[in-house]
Order: sequence, then structure tokens, then C-alpha cells
Amino acid sequence: MCGIVGYVGARPCRDLLVAGLEKLEYRGYDSAGLSVIEDGRVESVRAVGHLGNLRAALEEHDSRGGRVAVAAPPATTGVAHTRWATHGRVTEENAHPHSDSSDRVHIVLNGIVENHAKLRRRLEADGGVFSSETDAEVVAHLIASHYDGDLAAAVRAAFAKLRGHYAFVAMHADQPGVLVGARKECPLVAGIGEGESFLASAIPAFLAETSEVVTIENDEIVTIDASGVRIADSEGDPVEREPETIDWDSDAAEKGGYETFMLKEIHEQADAVAETIAGRLPGDEGVDLSEVDLEDDYLRGLKRVVIVACGTSYHAGLVGRYAIEEWARVPVEMDVASEYRYRNPVVDPGDLVIGLTQSGETADTLAAMRLAREKGARVLAITNLMGSQATRDADAVLYTRAGLEVSVAATKTFVAQIAAMYLVGLRLAELRGTLGTERLTELVGELKQMPSKIEETLAGCEDRVREVAEAHHDQKFFLYLGRHIGLPVCLEGALKLKEVSYIPTDAYAAGEMKHGPIALLDESTPVVCVATDSPVLSKVLSNVEEVRARGAETIAIVTEGSGAVGDVAEQTIEVARSDWLLQPIVAILPLQLLAYDIARRLGLNVDQPRNLAKTVTVE
Ligand code: AGP
Repeated sequence: MCGIVGYVGARPCRDLLVAGLEKLEYRGYDSAGLSVIEDGRVESVRAVGHLGNLRAALEEHDSRGGRVAVAAPPATTGVAHTRWATHGRVTEENAHPHSDSSDRVHIVLNGIVENHAKLRRRLEADGGVFSSETDAEVVAHLIASHYDGDLAAAVRAAFAKLRGHYAFVAMHADQPGVLVGARKECPLVAGIGEGESFLASAIPAFLAETSEVVTIENDEIVTIDASGVRIADSEGDPVEREPETIDWDSDAAEKGGYETFMLKEIHEQADAVAETIAGRLPGDEGVDLSEVDLEDDYLRGLKRVVIVACGTSYHAGLVGRYAIEEWARVPVEMDVASEYRYRNPVVDPGDLVIGLTQSGETADTLAAMRLAREKGARVLAITNLMGSQATRDADAVLYTRAGLEVSVAATKTFVAQIAAMYLVGLRLAELRGTLGTERLTELVGELKQMPSKIEETLAGCEDRVREVAEAHHDQKFFLYLGRHIGLPVCLEGALKLKEVSYIPTDAYAAGEMKHGPIALLDESTPVVCVATDSPVLSKVLSNVEEVRARGAETIAIVTEGSGAVGDVAEQTIEVARSDWLLQPIVAILPLQLLAYDIARRLGLNVDQPRNLAKTVTVE
């Protein structure tokens, strides 16, 4: 998840572009850069690390007589980027903007170009000289190969050949005062000012300059100049769209118009999953985890997988255990890291130990990973933060791509971790031949649909959840029940309510309830049951009956259109239908929202809950 911004107008654009990047740094910050058009040439400055390094590089550029700032009159057309590396290491060469061989076309891109390797081979065969390891650079060369004096036409031609999940903005040295952008899934918005226009990944990038905004929809190409914004579809036919006036204050702007980071991040989950699977499900059936430095033969011969993690990551690992065992038929052990590291675990050299940690800095998980490695296991880190300690304490790394998560209560990193576990499970199944091609194709197809199922579920359940929160926000205790793949979902739902509302909760395997927790129930106890479609649904429903028999209030999370649940539960909240093993990605959404709504009703600060830190680096 990178941040892109572009400006055309009458004002010097350097500082406007850097200011825009500051507002987008939550999207990625391992490197940054900008390019401006000056006297028919493009000047470009890039730097590794946070924006301060880019500012320093710009200063240094100025002092060496660079033209980005000092030329009179200063540049008024430019693009800028803050990066969250997905393809290619964190280096200056891999930082954006990227250009073609003639340095005339410059582009900034957010997302992933899936068919970049094939296009690159063809462009190199035609004489293109590439200078980075990135997938994005291919876009600059492709546009240049189609350029014949009309940048919009060249972008449209290039767009037709690109595959993936991205949004980009391009400029050409021969056309100062014009920027052209294109959107394929990843967000892109235009800002309309007085005699100036902006393009960006998110509104906060230019909100300080204009609140007139036009959203660019999927498969649209947008051209901006000082006079305004023109949108066309991928065929080139004009698209009319009225601008909206955004009335966010600066705090809301930072939160993308949401009242809190937690709510903003709940609504970024479709993107987080889409980015995490993008480029890793290239075709209809295969899973490409070539970035993970573990040999196929080793993975094929695996004797056991052990997952270690803490908190929300532990719950994502639990989902992974069910999926990996079900699909790849390899035994999976799951342990909280703070227990694993002190229980003198039996580790075999053939074991694969997966350390699941969004921050990559959680002390107990790091120690568990190190211990496993000392005992001879291979260690795979699944983390959201490039360059974090976990990436150094592992033999191989698989990145989730949820972008920076500010709210202490993990939401988008949880669903991104589940998506990553599914990728590992499917890849192991593919290598071990434990899933037929048809089933593999079906599951890959289903996983690709999960981002839209997330949006569908969020849109469909928000009002229902609000009603449930209204009815139960003053309760003193909640019980959560789930079975099989529903158990980690209810554990995570219970943790979310604890974290942000401070209401005591308990989460139990539903089959365990009659062995004790049922004693907790009375007429007022709200019991949240994860009852999505699965081979054990009938068992879950009988547990719901048991709960109702004690007079407790039952709130069931169910798969849309599932007739089985009927009126077993007092209240039902539907989630989008998918393969039953993929349901956790949507089933958790109403539980995140329930915790959120209840905490908000109690007037609590959900982004900074008491006693909690985003990253637990202490033992
Ligand atoms: C989740 O909302 C909490 N912030 C916490 O449980 C968290 O999941 C845990 O500390 C693990 O963090 P990690 O994924 O960064 O290792």
C-alpha cells in the first residue's frame, strides 16, 4: 500500500507534493521520491527511508545546483510517491518515480502489476533499459512505447496490456501541465482547485488545498491540467462525474474522513486482503510464493508446521492451522509464543515454524522464532512491516500488505494475516498434491473474491450491528462461542470487545460450553455465536439451543441465505457467502464493528485503549 500524489497548476509544486506525501505516509514509508517537469526535462529526487530523508535529499540536490527547487520559474507539474515495498528491495533505485529509458515518461504507482515480468522481457527485447527491480517501472516503458505526442492515448494503450491491482499517475516531459492517471482496483481521487488540479491515492493528500473531489472509478483513465479534470473509460469514451465537497477537518482528514483510525482501518480491509493476495495468485489455479525463500522440495517434504504468535496474530494463526491441515494434510501445531518459548518444545529439523506478527517486533514471538531456529527448525516470518526484527530472525519472509495500522486494536492486519495463511495452505497443497486441480482452482477463485465480499459484508451488516450494540452496550459480560474455523473468529471477536470496551468476555469452543461456562449464563447474558456455514453448523446450532434454553440472548453470525439458522437465534447478522473455510475473513467483520460501536457508545478512545500498546516489545 503506497501513496501517490500529482499536481498541475501555476504554483511551485515541490512543497505541495512533499506536503501531500506527509498525509499519505501511513500508506508506506520505506522510501519516497518526486519528479517535476522543468524546461522540457524531468528532474527527479528519491531517497530511502522516511520523508525526512527525501527532504534532505532535495536540500542536497538544491545545494548541488539541482533544478527541482531553484530554477526560476519553479516547476508546476510533478508527481510524488511514498513506498511500501512489494517488488524489489528498499533501495533508491527501486524508489518511485520510475522512468522509461529516455527519461521522458515518469510514473508513480500504488499496487501490483502482475504481468510485469512478461511485459519487461518484451520491452527489453525491444531495447528498453530497466534500472530497478520493481514491477512498476514496466509501466513507464510501456507508456513510452505507445507515446506519439498524446499522453492520454499512450496511457490507455498501456492500460489495456497491464494486469493486476494498481493505480498510477504518469507525466511526459513533452507535455508539461498534464498528468494522466489510471485505476485498476486501487484507490485514485482527483482534487479540483482554482487553476490547479491534483491526483492522489487518498483525499488527505490535497485536502489542505481543495475540498472539491472527484473519485476515479475502476477501469477509468483521468487527465488533469490547470483547467480541470477529464475522465474517460478504458475505451476512451468520456465519463461525466460531479465533484463532491469534502467537509473534513484536519483530524478527520488524517483518518480519511472516518471518526477514528480503527473505523478507517476496518474499512481498509478489502484493500488489505486484495493487496496481500495480489501478484500471488497469478493464474486461475496456482499460488506464486516465489518471494518466500524456502525450497519446494523442503515444503513438499515437510513433517510438521508450528505456528507461534501473540494476541490477534495467534487467532489468525489458528485459522491458518485449520486451513493448512485441511488442504495440505500436514500436521500443524499452534502455540502462544509466550508459552512456546518456555515449554522446552520438541523441535525436529524438518519442522517449519511460522512466526506470525504484524509489527514484526513482538518480543515473545521473536524469542519463540529464535528458539525454534536454534533447535534446527526453518523459520518463516509472516509480518506487515518491512525491515522489522522478525525479518532478520527468520529464514524466509512473507509480507502481508495491509499498510500501516495505527489503531492499537488490530483489524486490517488480522484479515491480511488470514489471507497470508490461506496462501501458505494452498501453496503447500499445490506442492504436496493434496488438493485436486479443480478444488484448487475453486479455492483460488474464491480467495480472489474475498475483497469484494468484505465490502459487501461491511455495507450489509453495519446497521444491524448498530442495533445489537444499542441493545447490549450496557452489558457486564459477553460470551462468544464457535466451532472449528468459527472458534478463532469468536476468540478474536471477544478480544476486540475486551480491548476497546473493557467489558469482560469469554470465548469458548461451543462444544466445551456444557463443561463449565454454561454456568455463567442467565437471562441477561448476551451470547455471540459464530454460526457460519460449515460441516459442524448443526452442532453449533444445537449449542445455540442450549444457550437459549438458559434464557440468554443469542446473537448469531450467519452466512447469507443460510436457511439452516432460521430462528434459532434471537438476532442474526449475515455475512457474504464464500467457501466455508474462507468465512473467517468476513465473519470477523460484524464482531469488529460490534466491539467498535459498543466502545463508542461508552465514549471510549478506541484508537488508544487503556493499558495497551500497538507493539509489545517487552517480555
Ligand atoms: C490486537 O488488537 C492487539 N494489538 C495485540 O493482541 C496484538 O495482536 C499482539 O500484541 C501481537 O502483535 P503482533 O502481531 O505485532 O506481534
